[in-house]
Amino acid sequence: MASSPFIIVAIDGGAASGKSSTARLLADRFNLLHVDTGSFYRHLTSELLRRGVPHADLPALKSALSGLHLATRLEGRSARMLVDGQPAGDEIRDQRVNEHVSHYAAIPEVRETLLGYQRGQVEVAKQHGFRGLVMEGRDIGSVIFPQADFRFFLHADPVERAKRRAAEGRQDSIAERDRLDSSRKTSPLTCPAGAIDIDSTHRSLDEVFALMAGRVAPALASA
Ligand code: C5P
Repeated sequence: MASSPFIIVAIDGGAASGKSSTARLLADRFNLLHVDTGSFYRHLTSELLRRGVPHADLPALKSALSGLHLATRLEGRSARMLVDGQPAGDEIRDQRVNEHVSHYAAIPEVRETLLGYQRGQVEVAKQHGFRGLVMEGRDIGSVIFPQADFRFFLHADPVERAKRRAAEGRQDSIAERDRLDSSRKTSPLTCPAGAIDIDSTHRSLDEVFALMAGRVAPALASA
């Protein structure tokens, strides 16, 4: 009997482009591990702020990062990162973290700290019997898994994205984060060559999900 394929789905895009909602739906439909790498950068940012380590103080930052222990806890189909045994709190979605996260995420040492951890989620998914993983972020299809089976890039008009955040009742620095994320030297936010580019401005969540699911389903159909 042929063994089931293990698939990797990468979803990249700017802030509030719809990555998390579609990634969760794909995870549920196809039994994939959902990995939200933005939450990892947020968690590290929150921890470094709590310890009073500024992003501009590289020696202090390196020293703090080298002492961190990262592990994973599953919550349903989602991978939650534990930093020194602690899960992220709700504060990672607060405006303070929104304002700082892109500054920390631009530092190569911060990205390096998360690189191996993110790739290690493949093993976590396999150990727990998932059929694959869907990972969302900014550099998944370009840097973390350039050989992913599917690489999607979501974008949407900035006005529409601001409306989505407002509808969630959240304040966010969408434009500023996109500016910093797109202009940084290391792993900038960009649609990698060969990725499937989807404009979600005038599409409902269900429509975007259907587009992606239509691509992914045949790869798992034989399993
Ligand atoms: O996805 P989310 O908007 O929660 O990501 C928060 C921030 O984390 C981004 O604005 C970006 O600075 C950083 N990030 C990143 N690379 C990723 C995921 C997130 O630089 N793969």
